[in-house]
Amino acid sequence: MNSQLLEKITKKYQEKFSETPITLRAPGRINLIGEHTDYNEGFVLPTGVSAAIYFAMGSRNDDKVCLYSYDFNSECQFNLSDTQKPKEQWASYLFGITKIIMEKGYKIKGYNCVFGGDVPVGAGMSSSAALESGLALGISELNNLKLDKMEMAKIGQKSEHEYVGVKCGIMDQFASIFSKAGKCVKLDCRSLEYEYSKLELGQYMFVLTDSKVKHSLASSEYNTRREECALGVSALQQNFAEVNSLRDADLPMLETIVNSVNEKVFDRCRYVIEENNRVIEACKQLNAGNLEEFGKLLYASHEGLSKLYEVSCKELDFLVDKTKNMDYILGSRMMGGGFGGCTLSLIKKDKLEEYQSVIAPAYKAAFGIDCKFYPVVVENGTERIS
Ligand code: GLA
Repeated sequence: MNSQLLEKITKKYQEKFSETPITLRAPGRINLIGEHTDYNEGFVLPTGVSAAIYFAMGSRNDDKVCLYSYDFNSECQFNLSDTQKPKEQWASYLFGITKIIMEKGYKIKGYNCVFGGDVPVGAGMSSSAALESGLALGISELNNLKLDKMEMAKIGQKSEHEYVGVKCGIMDQFASIFSKAGKCVKLDCRSLEYEYSKLELGQYMFVLTDSKVKHSLASSEYNTRREECALGVSALQQNFAEVNSLRDADLPMLETIVNSVNEKVFDRCRYVIEENNRVIEACKQLNAGNLEEFGKLLYASHEGLSKLYEVSCKELDFLVDKTKNMDYILGSRMMGGGFGGCTLSLIKKDKLEEYQSVIAPAYKAAFGIDCKFYPVVVENGTERIS
């Protein structure tokens, strides 16, 4: 918990609205393994981190919504009845959540909200899911709606689809809402059943290395991948009526469509099928405390994301490659949607400084960019603080 930040945000709220707000915290997330599997009804293994967005909120007696972004020092207002989303990008996430809760038939009052956080934007830790999840809980608390956790995750995902234009899966919002300190959670994205496991890494820890790049392709290519997977599913259905998603397919089944789809579609499907298998294997290895085998799966995941799914980029490939001859790193891969953001690496705790001192200058020499490092602390999901 970043108490200083929470205090600043609460103070800002009091200055602006002269009343005591309720406060909430919603974390960013990491995903251990299982990338681009969520919208294919597969498995993911995410958890929330200490970086979070903090909210101070209070109800109003009219139908106005007054938002203030502490980080951007920027304000935005709209009415609950407005249909046009605000022009500020950050506000459209909050507008979307508000509208979707109302569309579901819940009666809500106007509200004031000041928010800010330490989840780096564009680093692939899903600051947007944190924003959506925190606001959904805040609106629920202010209006006593008692929204169920899974319902809040679905509201966040819907808002992303309809108000941001990214056809994302459920992983990010799920992770931001459901995570528990010290644990990771395996989610079956079809049944939405989930299972927590203790994250016991012994002498190891996770570190994120932020490439500091965000290629503009990210959201359009994301939606394209979804379409390519759907093409694969249609072709598979010709041969196997029971296939409703790539979750239902295995590699021998995929071989039967090798001549009926183009090479890219084939590769995308192969990646997803293999990645689902890797999540299951990764859970086994983690539970058995076999971190070396788990680390190998991280490298294999990156290879697939880079070569078959083609969502990596030269900066991320460089960061992962560099770790391959570091004997204190067991595995590394790009994390999240891709085309920039962070790599996730499993590193020996006492080698963190050494790693940083090797990577930072090498990355700077190759790309002229100062990368950033975030040691991972696994934290609770979205919660009301006061
Ligand atoms: C983004 C999306 C998620 C998921 C990941 C890739 O973070 O929001 O739903 O698809 O990419 O695993």
